[in-house]
Amino acid sequence: MFRRLKDCHNVEDLRLLAKQRLPGPIFHYIDGAADDEVSYRRNTSAFDDCDLVPNVLAGVSEVDMSVTVMGQKLDMPVFCSPTALQRLFHHHGERGVARAAEKFGTMFGVSALGTVSLAEIGEMISTPKMFQFYFHKDRSINDAMVQRAKDAGFNTLALTVDTITGGNRERDLHTGFTSPPRLTLGSLISFGLHPVWALNYFFREAFELAELKDFVQQGSNVSVSIGDYFATMLDQSMDWSDAEALRAQWGGPFCLKGIMSVADAQKAVDIGADAIMVSNHGGRQLDGSRSPFDQIAEISDAVGDKIDVIMDGGIRRGTHVLKAIAAGAKACSGGRMYLYALAAAGQPGVERALLNLRTEIERDMKLLGVTKVSQLNREMLRYR
Ligand code: LAC
Repeated sequence: MFRRLKDCHNVEDLRLLAKQRLPGPIFHYIDGAADDEVSYRRNTSAFDDCDLVPNVLAGVSEVDMSVTVMGQKLDMPVFCSPTALQRLFHHHGERGVARAAEKFGTMFGVSALGTVSLAEIGEMISTPKMFQFYFHKDRSINDAMVQRAKDAGFNTLALTVDTITGGNRERDLHTGFTSPPRLTLGSLISFGLHPVWALNYFFREAFELAELKDFVQQGSNVSVSIGDYFATMLDQSMDWSDAEALRAQWGGPFCLKGIMSVADAQKAVDIGADAIMVSNHGGRQLDGSRSPFDQIAEISDAVGDKIDVIMDGGIRRGTHVLKAIAAGAKACSGGRMYLYALAAAGQPGVERALLNLRTEIERDMKLLGVTKVSQLNREMLRYR
């Protein structure tokens, strides 16, 4: 079926539109995950193993879905996780996601592998901004990125801790996906089959990793797979003392992204982190890793009174956000939930994705009998 943005009522509709519009290798980079993609599927299906028990007659004409996380007030309880290479998916790239997030009053995460500079994003939007940090072997890159994020007025910094080496993304191996895309017969055929994408890619602003291009050729001028980038550029000796030192160097609200165990959540508290993102990197790293939703209750029981616990990944519906918060998360975040939309239609696509989610959250809060996010609790959940 030929789809248009106005026909997209949910994340899956946007995913199918993205599939229609993107060259295969690029779609599969977004859509794919590690090994057999078990964790990727479980990240979403986990929500189906938990039922909601609504209350009624609660007077729900006014609903306030705002939350405060890492000291940032968000108008909706879900934000855009940092994701890499956005210019590849649509020429609006990070600019489109930033403006859409600002319209919805939610946080926008910019990846260290982003394609627009932190300085530009900092000037563009006034709503909360997260910078996602990859810990490089080359410490001068690390120091420069922290300084640039500070100078650009970013509010929060998230250190990604689950990419110590590259995940085994077999779809990328099959398609030959690299950043920037290598021009092979196969990739040129896939571009030719998607001429609108190809014209926008080749004749608009050139693709580059805006924050890294001054330091490394890989990713901007020299094509590499994301797995190889992680495996060769990032520091595999990174440990808790490095995370603690980074927190001190940054000095502002600090988060560890990719925490899955209670023991690590406790260590995050010990090093003075303000938040953790419970995440398995969208199933793109360790396949078989438990899903964030399956893990959220035990982590929030252990540290939820000391640190903000954010559940990242798998969200396709407003009810998923509400279940995660009822189970103990302070807020939720996601990548593909807005990336398909970016690929499908640029900034209007992301706005559509966020509108769909906000509309669902509001409707579902009313149907659950709550008017504030703080009223969500485990009494409303039953695990099958
Ligand atoms: C990925 C990185 C870049 O998962 O976050 O592809």
